[in-house]
Amino acid sequence: MTLSLSVIVLAAGKGTRMKSRLPKVLQPLAGRPLLAHSLESIAALKPEKTVVVVGHGADEVRTAFASQKHLDFVLQMPQNGTGHATQIGLAPIADGGVTLIVSGDTPLINTQTLADLAALANDETFALLTCHVADPTGYGRIVRNAAGDVTKIVEHKDALAAGDHATLAITEMNTAIMCAPTAWLRKALTKLTPKNAQGELYLTDVIAMAAIDGLKIATAQPAGGETEIAGVNDKIQLAALECAFQHQQAEALMRDGVTLADPHRIDVRGTITCGVDVFIDVNCVFEGEVALGDNVTIGANCVVKNANIAANAVIHPMSHIEGAAVGEGALIGPFARVRPGAKLGAEVHIGNFVEVKNSTLAKGAKANHLAYLGDATVGERVNFGAGAITANYDGANKHQTVIEADVHIGSNSVLVAPVTIGEGGTVGGGSTVTKDTAPGALTVARGKQISIANWKRPKKP
Ligand code: UD1
Ligand code: CA
Repeated sequence: MTLSLSVIVLAAGKGTRMKSRLPKVLQPLAGRPLLAHSLESIAALKPEKTVVVVGHGADEVRTAFASQKHLDFVLQMPQNGTGHATQIGLAPIADGGVTLIVSGDTPLINTQTLADLAALANDETFALLTCHVADPTGYGRIVRNAAGDVTKIVEHKDALAAGDHATLAITEMNTAIMCAPTAWLRKALTKLTPKNAQGELYLTDVIAMAAIDGLKIATAQPAGGETEIAGVNDKIQLAALECAFQHQQAEALMRDGVTLADPHRIDVRGTITCGVDVFIDVNCVFEGEVALGDNVTIGANCVVKNANIAANAVIHPMSHIEGAAVGEGALIGPFARVRPGAKLGAEVHIGNFVEVKNSTLAKGAKANHLAYLGDATVGERVNFGAGAITANYDGANKHQTVIEADVHIGSNSVLVAPVTIGEGGTVGGGSTVTKDTAPGALTVARGKQISIANWKRPKKP
């Protein structure tokens, strides 16, 4: 029989060493708060309850996760240690099952590790996740007896204060992730005392109580090793974990068949799904939800956010694409800016220094150089010349421009919206078009050229 599982996430600590106004658990890792990462791993366990203990920056943390209705927030004020936080976290949880405790500052913990640990715990068994590390400085040490059974955890600071070198030499550390029978834990926590180097109620002290009470203490190690349970206390550790996480994501992409020019030079801050034979050049950043179709090529130094790029499209270097759909076989960039609401059809060409916002371009439409298309509907095979723009904003409102199929817009034209250029029409270069034009018409709206023969330029006296 599987026991009901609840989870407590400890997230009330200050994170002093981050030296930031933002609470520690809201510091971003791969574009999302630290806490979001562990909460995602936890949610996959489908626990009965997930209680988040908040304290420092409590309101900000609650607000950041307000949409996650399955979370119970409880306030720990003041913060008297991890044992005290767990006591408070247990309040909304009923006896009868097991409770998994996870730190909010351990973002890379994975679901399988948590599930395996939770599966070890029952009414008679306390499950503890430990890890052998090269440098255990700062961590609680796992103390075992001659038979190899865990007898207690000693915090680094306490071993140091006691000059206990034997304990300091132990390299098996406490990950602070554990799972205990709920009813037993609740009782044990009432017996904690702050008689230690930090004057706090240590959650870790319940281990010795479990041993004395005759509970079996089962230990497990994270499959992902040290990286998986690494805590984040300062910006250096944050950067190291960001790097490790990005590398994990790069490896996952390559395992799925994506070719990365350099797996150390890609950043995914969200989720990316790729078809077959996708190539991604160096220094690209992907944010939010990104989907790349078969054979898509992303050039160097592109930023792609919340975008759908269809098969065979090529995004040339230095392009910025956000909130947009790019059609099959489209060619974008270099140096293109495709903004939210851009829907680019198949084989569309958007060249260098072209900006497209909230506009639909039908199949084969082209704006190859130095242009702006905003709030426009552009028909098939339209050619939008260099330096042409839609003047879509009158200072108060945005207006639509419609450019029907097969239109050619000459260079340096201004289409003053609202305006429609009829199918097959041509606009002469340098025109400022303020009125709708008929299909097939040539429109020239600029000062007529005059040439004065043998003109003498003024000379300095
Ligand atoms: C803790 C463990 C240590 C372990 C290490 C692993 C204790 C006493 N020590 O130490 O054995 O090796 O984690 O990373 O448990 N928190 C609260 N309320 C508090 C205090 C802390 O919610 O009053 C939260 C913090 O926000 C943090 C977590 O508990 O998310 C751990 O606290 P932290 O101060 O980072 O503990 P460590 O010193 O790292
Ligand atoms: Ca910590």
